Amino acid sequence: MKLSVLAFVTGFAAIALAAPAPVSHVVHEKRETQMNKWSRRSDLKLNGDAIIPMSIGLTQRNLDSGYEFLMDVSHPTSPNYGKHWTFDKIKERFAPSTTTIAAVKEWLVDSGIDSERIKMSKSLTWIKFDVTVEEAESLLQTEYGIYTHATTGKDHLACESYSLPAHIREHVDFITPTVHFDATVKLEKKRRDLEGRSLKIKPVTQVKENPNPIAELAVQQPQVTFSLANCFTYITPDCLRALYNFTNGTLAQSSYGIVEYTPQAYLQSDLNLFYSNLQRQISSGTGPTVDLIDGAIVQTTTQSFSYNGESDLDLQYAIALVYPQKVTLYQTGDTVEGASFNNFLDAIDASYCTSGGGDDATYDGIYPDTASGGYKGAANCGTFAPTSVISTSYGYNEADLPAAYEVRQCNEYMKLGLAGVTVLYSSGDNGVAGNSAECCTSAKCAGGTLNSGGSGTFNPSFPGTCPYITAVGATQIKPNTAVTATNPEEACETVIYSGGGFSNVFAMPSYQSSAISTYFTSHKPSYTATQYNNSQTVRGFPDVSANGANYVVAADGSLSLVYGTSASAPVFGSIITLINEQRIAAGKSAVGFINPTLYANPGAFTDITTGGNQGCGTAGFTSVAGWDPVTGLGTPKYPVLLAAFMALA
Ligand SMILES: *[C@@H]1O[C@H](CO)[C@@H](O)[C@H](O)[C@H]1NC(C)=O
Ligand SMILES: *[C@@H]1O[C@H](CO)[C@@H](O)[C@H](O)[C@H]1NC(C)=O
Ligand SMILES: *[C@@H]1O[C@H](CO)[C@@H](O)[C@H](O)[C@H]1NC(C)=O
Repeated sequence: MKLSVLAFVTGFAAIALAAPAPVSHVVHEKRETQMNKWSRRSDLKLNGDAIIPMSIGLTQRNLDSGYEFLMDVSHPTSPNYGKHWTFDKIKERFAPSTTTIAAVKEWLVDSGIDSERIKMSKSLTWIKFDVTVEEAESLLQTEYGIYTHATTGKDHLACESYSLPAHIREHVDFITPTVHFDATVKLEKKRRDLEGRSLKIKPVTQVKENPNPIAELAVQQPQVTFSLANCFTYITPDCLRALYNFTNGTLAQSSYGIVEYTPQAYLQSDLNLFYSNLQRQISSGTGPTVDLIDGAIVQTTTQSFSYNGESDLDLQYAIALVYPQKVTLYQTGDTVEGASFNNFLDAIDASYCTSGGGDDATYDGIYPDTASGGYKGAANCGTFAPTSVISTSYGYNEADLPAAYEVRQCNEYMKLGLAGVTVLYSSGDNGVAGNSAECCTSAKCAGGTLNSGGSGTFNPSFPGTCPYITAVGATQIKPNTAVTATNPEEACETVIYSGGGFSNVFAMPSYQSSAISTYFTSHKPSYTATQYNNSQTVRGFPDVSANGANYVVAADGSLSLVYGTSASAPVFGSIITLINEQRIAAGKSAVGFINPTLYANPGAFTDITTGGNQGCGTAGFTSVAGWDPVTGLGTPKYPVLLAAFMALA
């Protein structure tokens, strides 16, 4: 949203407001904590005629049954296992009711918003219209102000709270722009150098490069070879196959997608260097199938580890592990607006499309970008088919985003699960702390403020805490231990710490209740409720883990060692893709949402029982027998996991 336009446009023919009907308003959303870096500008008076593009997210039908619907097609004991839904059925089942749409429209018209100004999104889940500040303030019984960020100077339009007529509240999820604040500000400093774009999300606190890279090692010191004997020092695709006991892929039809956010990009020359050192059967020039979303480019103009490291890592390991299967790259967002997870989800599911009127300019890339020189085409909406498995190594803090925004997006992952798509996210690289190792300043972490991480409340990551995705944490090989499929690893404590903990937004899903109850019964952490939500009623993460240390990655022309749950997620996704190949070859469906089957088969994992995930000035949680909020159920035993999924219909 461009304040210059917003605040100073004049001449908008505002239609006089009808006399307000005597309905009693009730507060719908209120900002719970002060945003300490934002201050309200008392010197700037908003022009009452300035125009606000307003979006109302309507409540959808049947969402309260979403979990049940998903379990029906995903739980291993369900007779309907694997009978995934079509997107049409999903859209039909969840679209807002005609009652909801009519009630909200009627309220708007009664409040003086002419029906011609009101537009519905294609998905029927958003109502969008332009209002003047004066109209918005009357409609929502609020007062808008301009807030300026202390360090960036960026302006933002917001209010402290807003109200709706009591009978309308049940029909509305949330309204933008209102109380929500910019989740991305602290990222801008870091990644400003590509023509002033602001990245909306970033790799899970970046893939971290070893301070002592083995750059050119393979080239300059040819005596150093990568082998199973030195996986402790150098992780390669062969090490992962040995650790988790799987072999190469087959040609059976399956599909695997990796999501990257522009300007992060892979370099074909790096993929080639990787193949020639570590995966000789893959020929030079082999790359992913590229789907460009919202004006995305796989840019090669700016090259450095922070631009290429994440994409190079994800694609090198995904391509190697599922070869000869092809990997799809969903390159998302242009170089100006950037993109959010919502932009990606829009592109693969037309029934979600926030672009018809649900984009939140604070968090999402807005396309076409008419204001700032970005991509001028329409936002992609259902343009690309989702692959059967989708792995993403980027994340927010749960605290960065409003709960209502997170719940809405999380429900979209539920719908993808219904459609038979497995969605994996890396769990974060700062243990119980969040991105940039920051922690929350109050126990009310969600939507709250963050400190520099020496103390404070644990800061879980999103979408890691969404119960409809599979969150993947990180392990490492124990020092000087031989790599075999029977030697357990330990929680990763080299360069990064596995993200894990408990949500402040999402309730505990039933597929996890027994694992969490066992964890609290046998290994209750000593922390209090001021450090994390210890109620045993909230979602714990990660679900599983895979190695996240010492990955040999070709980046910007040399081999480096890379660390992160950023590595763990694409590896776990590759393993699920190999399982899909076997199921499809046997005439079965792809696995879709895997968590209920994973938790029902703890024996398909090597339990990780050493190491922890320190952060926020504490030792974090500890890996223990059974599920734990560091390494989840453990690392995969491929043949056992395969057998578990092959046994299902
Ligand atoms: C890959 O797997 C196929 C069987 O699926 C096998 O014939 C082939 O030898 C394997 N290739 C390598 C390099 O292991
Ligand atoms: C590895 O998997 C094979 C089956 O593919 C199995 O026979 C073998 O026992 C497994 N190795 C270990 C160490 O679990
Ligand atoms: C923990 O989560 C439960 C369930 O959502 C909630 O009722 C409780 O208030 C939370 N505790 C804190 C300290 O936020």
